[in-house]
Amino acid sequence: MILDGKAVSEKRLELLKEKIDESGLYPRLATVIVGEDPASQMYVRMKHRACERVGIGSIGIELSIDASTEQVLEAVARLNADPDIDGILVQLPLPRGVETARVIDAVAPIKDVDGFHPFNLGRLLAGKPVYAPCTPQGVMTILDEYGIPIAGKRAVVVGRSIDVGRPMAVLLLNADATVTICHSRTENLADEMRRADILVSAVGKAKFVRPDMVKAGATVIDVGINQDEQGRLSGDVDFEAVRERAGAITPVPGGVGPMTIATLMENTFKAARLRTCCDEIVR
Ligand code: GUN
Repeated sequence: MILDGKAVSEKRLELLKEKIDESGLYPRLATVIVGEDPASQMYVRMKHRACERVGIGSIGIELSIDASTEQVLEAVARLNADPDIDGILVQLPLPRGVETARVIDAVAPIKDVDGFHPFNLGRLLAGKPVYAPCTPQGVMTILDEYGIPIAGKRAVVVGRSIDVGRPMAVLLLNADATVTICHSRTENLADEMRRADILVSAVGKAKFVRPDMVKAGATVIDVGINQDEQGRLSGDVDFEAVRERAGAITPVPGGVGPMTIATLMENTFKAARLRTCCDEIVR
């Protein structure tokens, strides 16, 4: 079975548009981009387009590649203080000269729709999430939409980043999976991966996951986005070979990617609801 993230994201965006219409709210998202990385610019454009589609207002702050950490912090502080802004997204990666951790820590937790602030990661770890990071939350939505059982299953997450691997493992744990996190120092990696009922790869290497690393019938989630010399996108999974063995698998493109944006929209609507009713949740 191919897990069609594009179709699921379309469905979720339609549903969200209805919910936003009914709510009478006009949520607003601010994006911050530093420098002119074409991939980042494309992602930010896609986020603004999705906003427009579901009835979320959006503004984009663009800073030059040589902006200092202080200048980025000032932009974030202005957005934190702006009563018209519900959600703030600082597009990553930031240029080398900018201290990413300081910027992430500066975003007001109630506006942190990316879910990267230590407050939100802590809430997730405590099993009481406010905003979960969009990509792993999007994976949970795909699993849910396709009715793939999680409780009691063995989940293996390959990758331990703050934005994907770690929160992915915690979300699966919170859903009662038995979770293993693997990374570049893991011994006998293929053995670990072969135990997975749900295998999530967030490594960033094309054709990293081969059929011999996959248990027959497993659900394989490909979070990788890799570009070859011709600019073609591929995931971490050798899709054509692994699909024969997997029970269910996400393609790239059209799998997890669209779900990240749909989840960002859902988080932004949540931000608007929280700010209008109960912002004490994040104090
Ligand atoms: N860069 C790649 N993915 C993401 C994401 O989900 N959020 C942000 N802010 N930057 C990213």
